[in-house]
Amino acid sequence: MTPEEARTEIARLSAEVERHDQLYYQQATPEISDADYDKLFRDLELLEAAHPELASPNSPTKRVGGQPIDGFDQREHVVPMLSIDDVFSEEEVHDFWTRMVKNLLDAKIPMMIEPKIDGVAASLIYRDGELEAAVTRGDGSAGDVITENVRTIPGLPLRLGADAPPVLEVRGEIYMPNDGFAKMNVAREEEGLATFANPRNATAGTLKLLDSREVAKRPLAFIAHGFGQLEGVEIDSFSQYRDLLKTLNFPRNEPVWYTDTVDGVLAAISELDEKRHSLGYATDGAVVKVDSFAAQQQLGATSRAPRWAIAFKYPPEQKETLLRDITVQVGRTGTLTPVAELDPVHVSGTTVRRATLHNQDEIDRKDVRIGDTVVIQKAGEIIPEVVKVITAKREASSVPFDLYDYVEGKCPRCEQPIEKAEGFVAWKCVNFACPAQASNRLKQFVSRKALDIDGVGSIVAEKLVERGLVEDILDLFELRVDQLADFNIGTAVEPRMLGEKNGTKIVETSLRAREAPLSKWLYGLGIPQVGESAALEASRLVETMHDIPGSELIDKIRERGEKDTWLKANPMRSKKVELSAEEYTERKAKHDEYKPRVKELNTELEDYAISPELGGVASRSLLEFFRSDSGQAMLARMKDLGINPQSHNYRPLAAAAADGDSAASEIAGKTFVITGTLSQGRDAFKARIQEAGGKVSGSISKKTDYLLAGASAGSKLTKAESLGVAVLSEEAFEALVSGGGGDQGEPEFKLEG
Ligand code: IVH
Repeated sequence: MTPEEARTEIARLSAEVERHDQLYYQQATPEISDADYDKLFRDLELLEAAHPELASPNSPTKRVGGQPIDGFDQREHVVPMLSIDDVFSEEEVHDFWTRMVKNLLDAKIPMMIEPKIDGVAASLIYRDGELEAAVTRGDGSAGDVITENVRTIPGLPLRLGADAPPVLEVRGEIYMPNDGFAKMNVAREEEGLATFANPRNATAGTLKLLDSREVAKRPLAFIAHGFGQLEGVEIDSFSQYRDLLKTLNFPRNEPVWYTDTVDGVLAAISELDEKRHSLGYATDGAVVKVDSFAAQQQLGATSRAPRWAIAFKYPPEQKETLLRDITVQVGRTGTLTPVAELDPVHVSGTTVRRATLHNQDEIDRKDVRIGDTVVIQKAGEIIPEVVKVITAKREASSVPFDLYDYVEGKCPRCEQPIEKAEGFVAWKCVNFACPAQASNRLKQFVSRKALDIDGVGSIVAEKLVERGLVEDILDLFELRVDQLADFNIGTAVEPRMLGEKNGTKIVETSLRAREAPLSKWLYGLGIPQVGESAALEASRLVETMHDIPGSELIDKIRERGEKDTWLKANPMRSKKVELSAEEYTERKAKHDEYKPRVKELNTELEDYAISPELGGVASRSLLEFFRSDSGQAMLARMKDLGINPQSHNYRPLAAAAADGDSAASEIAGKTFVITGTLSQGRDAFKARIQEAGGKVSGSISKKTDYLLAGASAGSKLTKAESLGVAVLSEEAFEALVSGGGGDQGEPEFKLEG
């Protein structure tokens, strides 16, 4: 085939594939079989592979996504992306109308009413009919360029054909249809990944992915509802714009109502409320807009929203039902939540049987009693809650509820005493070993930053704890493949087995996790106040986990922190509180005792150069945990299991600087940014930099000392170069670490700052 023939054939095949995409996704009337479509698609792919110079970024074959990118560039909106003012009542709709009538001097105004889609706004810029860029709303004047991700949206036109205007900026909503969202969450559950709370979050989360091949796997969709720049088109209303969208094959917002009276507007709003739950995607209101562009122009806009449009937000649907009982749930952080057990009732699309009562204060404030008739709604259209009691319907037999009495002062799961912290409304189970808290801990334990156990995601973790397979995180290390293979992560009605493959994966990665470094273990245990950095610093100070409870060093950090905090509060100089002579003497004595002790501790600890990431509070929490009964029991069991996590960065004396260790001195105190594809994950490099006393930040600024740049580094590299930040290749970084600094370590392409 000559290049000219290839060009013609690629154009023909592309047009064919695009036409069938449209038929399939938009009209839902496919003309060819899946197999025939696949063949067309493959022919196009092959031809493009043979003539890479002819392949366009907007070829339909690019919908599967491309190379991961480094971060999103920003792009300014030529026409700002405004917001819309929300209204919540008929009265406010009337006010809006009155304002417009006064301004336009006409009682009739051509209006259009359509669903407000609960998704993520995006602007798609087409130049000469080709998709040039897709940009998020951002702050309204500039947003993230998400073109690669948007190209993967099925049915979204990438090329507009011969009739396209020279410049067209189509604005609309990217969203996730309800069924696709539900399926995706089920699949994520099975893979052990975290599920999304609602379709909007799922959409936003998906669009933030840097790997468009992943985005391509998610069920995104797009609906057009507006425009930005528009050149070479003669139209004077939204209704005509809708015709243009149709010609160009864009998915449009439906249903739409047209009217020119305020009563017509209100009627449309209420008709839409009837229909919106059956649209198949989340809507949170009705958008009411002036149809005529001339009238829009006359009304104008404020800096944040046009005066020609409002969004009517629907109140959540409310239903009455009988509250049969109140039970108490122990949440994953130990919080005791009262839950209303209800006569089943249909609210906003689902049947509700239980609703949260939040806490005792809420029960008291609303005066909720067992046997009451209550009003239910879904908060944010998702979580059912009790709004109020219909006191007029209260029977004499209704019973007040007191949470503390109901649970007899004990956690319903572990029967240990419950506590309420000063200033808090919720009762909490504070027993570290309570099974109710175990699933939360297990989640942290298996997470990427901790022991990174494949196959145990949020849902699997919860089920493992719920079904008693894991009561204590260490149970994980005694699970067998056969047990896991038959483990039901679904429900009794709809069982779904974990399967042998997943079971094996869990057992195998757990085996590896036994050898994980101490810092990962310490973080994974989820000890209060002990985050990733504190864990890393603590692990520098001991050789193995079993050394922690007896560590004098950590105890000194605790003591210094506590005494220093007391001194800093400077109780003797307090002007606000009048101290009695007795109190003064007492405090003075303490002060005189603490001050030299802190000084002494400072001197003793100086050589250790303890990072502030491990302060008094974290040290205290660490010691309290390892010295507690549950901590001791854990250590004993670990011994039995033959697990004794070793520190990989044990080096108590901050030998670094003292030894003249040049690696550490080159890195200590320096700020790094990591980008591009390196031989190992970025976390691995991050850990090494931190161990050597350096910091790792997510974005480049003047304060950045080094950019560690791997292959196909993008915008960060450009920025580093423009700011004169030194750029290290992986080899240069290695040289720096291995103590180069001098001759052999000179960064490969260090720029003068
Ligand atoms: S028209 C001048 N129509 O809601 C703004 N917006 O609160 C014109 N939205 O960011 C916007 N559905 O992304 C319009 N049918 C619809 C909409 C809609 C959802 C979003 C839009 C905007 C936000 C404003």
